[in-house]
Amino acid sequence: MNSYLLLGTILSPDTPSHLSTYKAMLIRDGHIADVFSTIPSTDIVSSDIPRIDTGTALIIPGFSDIHLHAPQFANLGLGLDEELLPWLETYTFPEESKYKDISYATTMYTAFTKALLTNGITSSVIFASIHTPATLQLMSLLERAGLRAFVGKVNMDRNSPNYYQETTEESIAATTDWLTAARQFKQVRPILTPRFVPSCTPKLMKALARLADAYQVPVQSHLSENRDEIAWVRDLHPECHNYLDIYRHYGLLRGPRQTIMAHCVWCTEEEKQMLVDYEVIVSHAPFSNADLASGIAPIADLQQRGIPIGLCSDISGGHELFMPRTIAMAAMMAKERATLCGGHTLTTMELFYMATHGGGIFPQIGHFAPDYAADFLIIDDSNLCLPNHSYTPFQRLQRFLYNGDPRQITDVYVAGKRCQR
Ligand code: GUN
Ligand code: FE
Repeated sequence: MNSYLLLGTILSPDTPSHLSTYKAMLIRDGHIADVFSTIPSTDIVSSDIPRIDTGTALIIPGFSDIHLHAPQFANLGLGLDEELLPWLETYTFPEESKYKDISYATTMYTAFTKALLTNGITSSVIFASIHTPATLQLMSLLERAGLRAFVGKVNMDRNSPNYYQETTEESIAATTDWLTAARQFKQVRPILTPRFVPSCTPKLMKALARLADAYQVPVQSHLSENRDEIAWVRDLHPECHNYLDIYRHYGLLRGPRQTIMAHCVWCTEEEKQMLVDYEVIVSHAPFSNADLASGIAPIADLQQRGIPIGLCSDISGGHELFMPRTIAMAAMMAKERATLCGGHTLTTMELFYMATHGGGIFPQIGHFAPDYAADFLIIDDSNLCLPNHSYTPFQRLQRFLYNGDPRQITDVYVAGKRCQR
């Protein structure tokens, strides 16, 4: 079925402040061919084109989670009494090191892939572990599930436990092999993933920058998340002006919207200006920032400066994979910050836009317009629609985002195809 007409209450966050509502959407070869405010007659869309009528369902773009750690899936909800650095040592590195075992990796990554589908996350940007076979296995499972993703084999050649660290040479060779092997995938693509400054030597960072050039791949990492981390980074790199300047110095700030930095809780004025200058995408992790007591990120401020922002779960630093709850949490954190420190809040529409467009790392996703990807969710919100009470489409959306549940996602489509769940 290369073409079909989808009928329902279709909600399209075209901009951070505007939601369009349509009654029908023509899908062709995995993309949106056209959208209609009223159901088109067969003069306009031929009766040869099959029609899928979703009745009273809501149809929204799939969610985009632009920073999460797949090999931390089994740790969801564990160890959140610690702050970042002890949490990494005590919980995270021991769990990630288990992915050396491909059979463990296959079991866990199968469950992880299923969880993405359950939660309607049609596109994601993922940290795997340092292990090449397990990382390729994750890419293969995501591709087979029909999902869209960037996946990174993690690089770590210093300040890590001896059971979970590579030598510089091993890390470069394994990354090169992995980039070559990753060419077999289509909807799942590689992204270079130096874990964060403390775990990568200057030599490794420079080599990764050369690989980013050679293979034309984007880069992701962590930035200014926690105050102890930032103090450690300052001690490691007296030659650089600030944390972000280290990534720049070693060639890891790529072209516009080709670098994703998670957190940015404590960015200085100088770092914020660099985020603007290099068009870095910021991934905002409100649950993680609260769970690990990292702080409240100045997201409304970054947004006002025009920095592209996407939302993320950062599992298992964050304990919540359902993006609507992340939207609500980001709204609450922004309000708390505005109350405590002044500045703006973030609207539901702005956050819904961030949650579907993902800061622009995946081109042509996040709303419904010609040539955009046909990545969407069908939502049965009937249990949120009370008798004798009519909600506008935007009110139905708000109720789903604030009071909904993954079980209300009845179908997930990526590139026009229904994913098996
Ligand atoms: N910084 C370096 N590694 C990690 C990680 O796994 N999670 C989070 N939240 N921050 C990190
Ligand atoms: Fe993270």
